[in-house]
Amino acid sequence: MSHPSDPQFWNDRYTAGTTPWDLGGVPPRLAQFLTEHRTGGRVLIPGCGTGYEVAVFHQAGFDVTALDFAPAAVARARANLGPDLGTRVLLGDFFQHPFAPQSFDFVYERTFFCAIPPSLRAAYVQRMIELLRPAGVLVGLFYHGDERDGPPYQLNESDHATFFPPHFALTLDEAVAQPFPLFGANERWREYRRRP
Ligand SMILES: C[S@@+](CC[C@H](N)C(=O)[O-])C[C@H]1O[C@@H](n2cnc3c(N)ncnc32)[C@H](O)[C@@H]1O
Repeated sequence: MSHPSDPQFWNDRYTAGTTPWDLGGVPPRLAQFLTEHRTGGRVLIPGCGTGYEVAVFHQAGFDVTALDFAPAAVARARANLGPDLGTRVLLGDFFQHPFAPQSFDFVYERTFFCAIPPSLRAAYVQRMIELLRPAGVLVGLFYHGDERDGPPYQLNESDHATFFPPHFALTLDEAVAQPFPLFGANERWREYRRRP
């Protein structure tokens, strides 16, 4: 059986239609964020899955790039978005895709940090440091579960405290007003600012 660090693991789930994390739309909290950030900017959505958020970032004036390493997810995202916006979705590995350093003002993610094996968490934060410009913002929805066998992997405050400081300042941490039923009260909206 394939491992969650292997695209095949995720691809099998998309082709089987076993994607319980899929919201089927855009998180309501993201709409609020977009009204608060009317300046736009360059945004990356890693582990984008079916990529619903690409369209709303684009409509809000952002230069959006999304990325997933599961071909079936990318195919579905491109089909959902249509031929123009579909080109914004790249097939690639977040840890290896050849983006130029400091390519982004924002990284938005949902259910990606909890989906990667814990052994990759330090590399995830290092990659965010590389890809965000100084004072750039990592924002999104982080699921804090206590599952023994991931994904999603167990994730809690102490894990955040282990990996994000000193490179990132936690500038916002909120409960989600309209929780996704699968995640309930265990999903947090967070904003981390990359320290210069
Ligand atoms: C739990 S799903 C979340 C998908 C989407 N963000 C959502 O909220 O519906 C995790 C996603 O991360 C992708 N993924 C995992 N590791 C990745 C990596 N190293 N590079 C790119 N995508 C990755 C998987 O293919 C999967 O689509």
